[in-house]
Amino acid sequence: MHSLIPLSLFLTVLDVAHAIRVPFNVHTGTTPARKLGRRAPVPINNIGNAEYISNITLAGVQVSVILDTGSSDLWVKFPGTAPSTNSTGKSLSLAYAVGSASGNIQTAPLQFANFTVPDQAFLQVSDSSSFSPNAAFNGLVGLGPNQGSQIYKKLDSDAGGESMLNRIFAQDKLSENYMTFLLDRKNDPSDTLTGQFTIAEPVPGFENITSQPKLNVETVYKILKDQQHWQALTDKNHLVGPDGNIIDIESIVPKAPDGQLVAVFDSGFTFSQVPRSVSDAIYGRVQGAVYDEKNQWWTVPCGQMLNVTFYFGGVAFPIHPLDVVDDNFSITNANGSHVCIGAFQPITSAFSLFGNFDLILGMSFLRNAYTLMDFGDWAVGSDKDQGDPYVQLLPLTTDLATAHADFVKIRLAGTDTSNSSQYALLPTSEQQHSPISAAEKKAKYEEMILSRWPYIFVGCLVFVGLVVGYIVWRCCCRKRRERNANKNKGFFEQKSQTYLPLQVQGQQSQVQVNTPGFQEQHYPQQQPHYPQQEHYPQQQQQGAYGY
Ligand SMILES: *[C@@H]1O[C@H](CO)[C@@H](O)[C@H](O)[C@H]1NC(C)=O
Ligand SMILES: *[C@@H]1O[C@H](CO)[C@@H](O)[C@H](O)[C@H]1NC(C)=O
Ligand SMILES: *[C@@H]1O[C@H](CO)[C@@H](O)[C@H](O)[C@H]1NC(C)=O
Ligand SMILES: *[C@@H]1O[C@H](CO)[C@@H](O)[C@H](O)[C@H]1NC(C)=O
Ligand SMILES: *[C@@H]1O[C@H](CO)[C@@H](O)[C@H](O)[C@H]1NC(C)=O
Ligand SMILES: *[C@@H]1O[C@H](CO)[C@@H](O)[C@H](O)[C@H]1NC(C)=O
Ligand SMILES: *[C@@H]1O[C@H](CO)[C@@H](O)[C@H](O)[C@H]1NC(C)=O
Ligand SMILES: *[C@@H]1O[C@H](CO)[C@@H](O)[C@H](O)[C@H]1NC(C)=O
Repeated sequence: MHSLIPLSLFLTVLDVAHAIRVPFNVHTGTTPARKLGRRAPVPINNIGNAEYISNITLAGVQVSVILDTGSSDLWVKFPGTAPSTNSTGKSLSLAYAVGSASGNIQTAPLQFANFTVPDQAFLQVSDSSSFSPNAAFNGLVGLGPNQGSQIYKKLDSDAGGESMLNRIFAQDKLSENYMTFLLDRKNDPSDTLTGQFTIAEPVPGFENITSQPKLNVETVYKILKDQQHWQALTDKNHLVGPDGNIIDIESIVPKAPDGQLVAVFDSGFTFSQVPRSVSDAIYGRVQGAVYDEKNQWWTVPCGQMLNVTFYFGGVAFPIHPLDVVDDNFSITNANGSHVCIGAFQPITSAFSLFGNFDLILGMSFLRNAYTLMDFGDWAVGSDKDQGDPYVQLLPLTTDLATAHADFVKIRLAGTDTSNSSQYALLPTSEQQHSPISAAEKKAKYEEMILSRWPYIFVGCLVFVGLVVGYIVWRCCCRKRRERNANKNKGFFEQKSQTYLPLQVQGQQSQVQVNTPGFQEQHYPQQQPHYPQQEHYPQQQQQGAYGY
């Protein structure tokens, strides 16, 4: 499969080449950047509903970059001869859920949306073929929080290694620290939108996004600070499936409130990644649905109209039926017939080992919601708009009758057969369930441990404390008794009293080690798992790459 795209998201980042050290000759941006003119939305180019790309100018060269809200670094592979840029003497390798990019960290002047950053730090990549062959883009710009930027971490804090948006926000030309983006849908006769990206102002005609509920992105507990994403909690027990009923959900995030899921908004994912049970609930009752184990997605007849509605902040976000079942990849089934892909696929390649999130809402969701992301106090070196960061979403697929008509026109050749018996959902009892691989079971188990290690650690401390306390207490009792009692008799009595309880303790902990879900007693067994965690994401990437 060619253009199944940069499933973005962090995962592992490895340092390469500590060897070369070039004097650090980058000047931090004290020169006030010039604002070229009136602000206007930046056009976003839609490549087959699978990649959303904009132009930036870097070192005087125009390059097209994927807009990725799921990561925070800028990397570019210049077409042709690379222009002159300044070295920072550092190198880096960035690994994404699919693909990786490595090279040297350089600085150069950057222009985007009529803003100029005099010395933007970026990763200059020489080989990006692991990303996507024949790619329609030269790089990727991460639009996530600055604290997730590997370049920022790699450069000294005074070296100006902040992400592109952070550098723009820090220029004090703007009163607010937010971006917005509107993604268009190709092959949809009623979609008249053009893809647009704006900084600190809404897309004209969509001003009322600023009165939508503000979804706090920091409420949910994270083990590591750099695992912060643009994320929000779904509304409690409110995810409506194709049969009009609520889909049962259960979060893997340790502190997520009951009945709510942690959703990451990630424009780098073509397909959304949802818990397996949710994907099965959406597609498992479709007649002729087949789960493709290799690609880890459902295939369904292209004429199948499925309605799914997400809820955030009490607002409904219906998904266009053209987005629930994707027809942009020429897929055939075992019999050679054309089939379509369920664009809400089980989360496998991007599964959160640290239990940071449950689902990743990619382009198949984001085409249905105009999105505003306010960085608030994430913006380093900016002194305005320093509140909590948040996301605002404005539903775009609100005219359901038109969405229905679009689907009929495109997928059913203009004749509304969506009510015919071949498209009726199977009864719940006949729902298919996609198989869980051994690797996935292992990942789930590891997630359960890794995401809870602070509790496990505290549990162990408490346990050790109790044991030590108990021993001390026993010793004291023994001394007191030794003082008070007949020496010989006391000796035998005490032996049996002190040994017995300790044996019982040992047996108990052995039994509990094998009980899944019980935390404290897992510790001795789970220790050996921990170092493996670094390798694990890489294995997954290899599995995910090569469509
Ligand atoms: C940049 O400024 C120029 C001149 O002021 C204007 O014509 C153009 O539309 C602006 N472009 C963007 C992307 O803001
Ligand atoms: C980027 O620039 C190229 C070349 O000027 C142009 O053809 C393309 O339409 C631009 N893309 C966007 C999204 O503006
Ligand atoms: C995918 O979308 C692109 C752009 O709309 C279109 O040119 C292409 O034909 C589509 N591919 C399929 C298989 O429908
Ligand atoms: C590199 O740094 C020098 C010295 O600060 C500066 O004059 C020059 O413009 C920089 N070049 C680029 C491409 O950023
Ligand atoms: C936003 O404004 C549009 C047009 O003015 C209106 O149709 C829509 O209902 C408004 N949406 C919200 C959430 O206020
Ligand atoms: C292929 O065709 C056979 C016979 O019509 C049918 O039983 C089978 O389910 C089809 N396979 C797929 C994957 O659709
Ligand atoms: C999906 O929702 C639309 C609008 O409510 C409706 O017209 C259509 O029949 C629904 N489709 C299915 C398969 O339920
Ligand atoms: C589909 O069935 C529903 C309920 O039976 C009915 O209300 C609707 O009008 C039907 N739609 C079509 C296009 O036949």
